[in-house]
Amino acid sequence: MSSGVNVQRQSEIMSNNIEGKVVVITGASSGLGEAAARHLSAQGATVVLGARRADRIQSLARELTARGGKALAVTTDVTHRDQVKKLVEAAVQTYGRVDVMLNNAGLMPQSPLDRLKIDEWDRMIDVNIKGVLYGIAAALPYMKQQKAGHIINVSSVAGHKVHAGGAVYAATKHAVRALSEGLRQEVKPYNIRTTVISPGAVATELPDSISEPDVAEGFHKFYEEFAIPADSFARAVAFAIGQPDDVDINEILFRPTKQEL
Ligand SMILES: NC(=O)c1ccc[n+]([C@@H]2O[C@H](COP(=O)([O-])OP(=O)(O)OC[C@H]3O[C@@H](n4cnc5c(N)ncnc54)[C@H](OP(=O)(O)O)[C@@H]3O)[C@@H](O)[C@H]2O)c1
Repeated sequence: MSSGVNVQRQSEIMSNNIEGKVVVITGASSGLGEAAARHLSAQGATVVLGARRADRIQSLARELTARGGKALAVTTDVTHRDQVKKLVEAAVQTYGRVDVMLNNAGLMPQSPLDRLKIDEWDRMIDVNIKGVLYGIAAALPYMKQQKAGHIINVSSVAGHKVHAGGAVYAATKHAVRALSEGLRQEVKPYNIRTTVISPGAVATELPDSISEPDVAEGFHKFYEEFAIPADSFARAVAFAIGQPDDVDINEILFRPTKQEL
C-alpha cells in the first residue's frame, strides 16, 4: 500500500467520512428517513429529501438549512420510476454527485391473507420492492461513473422472520434482502458499497398504514410497549456510511432490547 493510500485511509478514519457526502433519502418526510436526514445533516452531510408529502420535506429542508446544513426537498412518489430518477438527478445537478442512496420509503399494511386486501398487497410490492429497485436504477449509473457510492436499502426483522398475518410485508422485506445481496456481488467492480438495514420495532408512523382495525390495535399496543426511538436507525445508517471507504458494512439487524420476536 502506498503512503498516499495510507494517508487517505487515516483521514477517513479520523474524519467521520460523512461530512460533505451527498445523501439521497426516500421516505424522508417522517420516521426513519426523517431521523436519518437530521442525524446525517448534523454530521455535515448534504441531504436530498424525497417523499410525497411536499410540505413535510420542504419544512425539514428549511430547518436543516437554517442550522447551517445543505438540504434539498424533491417531491417524489417512489412508485413512479421517472420521479425517482428526477430525485437523484436533482441531487447530481445541484451538488455534483450522489454518494449515498438510502432506499427507505415503505409501508406495512399487515393483514392475514384470507382478508384478501389485494390492493394493499399491490401497494406494498410497488413501494417496498419496486420503489427500492427504482432507487437502485436511478443511482447506479452515476455511482458506476463515479467509481464510488453507497446504496443502503431498508429491510426489517420481517425480512428475516415470517409470522402469520404478515406474509406479504415479510415477502417484500425478504425481497429487499435478496436484491441487496445480489447488488452487493454485482457492484464490486465499481467500488460501490451496499448495506441492508433491518430494524425491529421503531416508533414511527408505520403502524398507521394498517387498515384492519383489529390488526392495527395489536400493532399499536406492541409498538407502545416495545418501540425504540428513530435515532437508533439514524445511528446505524451513520455507522455504515462512516466507515473508511474500504470497509463495506453489508447487513445490520437491530431490535429494541426488549423485543423477543
Ligand atoms: N418503524 C419500524 O418499526 C420499522 C421496522 C422495520 C422496517 N421499517 C421500514 O422502515 C422504512 C421507513 O418506515 P418508517 O418506520 O419510518 O415509517 P413512516 O414513518 O410511516 O415513514 C414511511 C415513509 O415512507 C414514505 N412513503 C410511503 N409511500 C411512499 C411513496 N409511494 N413514495 C415515496 N415515499 C413514500 C412516507 O412518505 P410520504 O407518505 O410523505 O410519501 C414516509 O416518509 C420502511 O421501509 C419500513 O418498512 C420500519
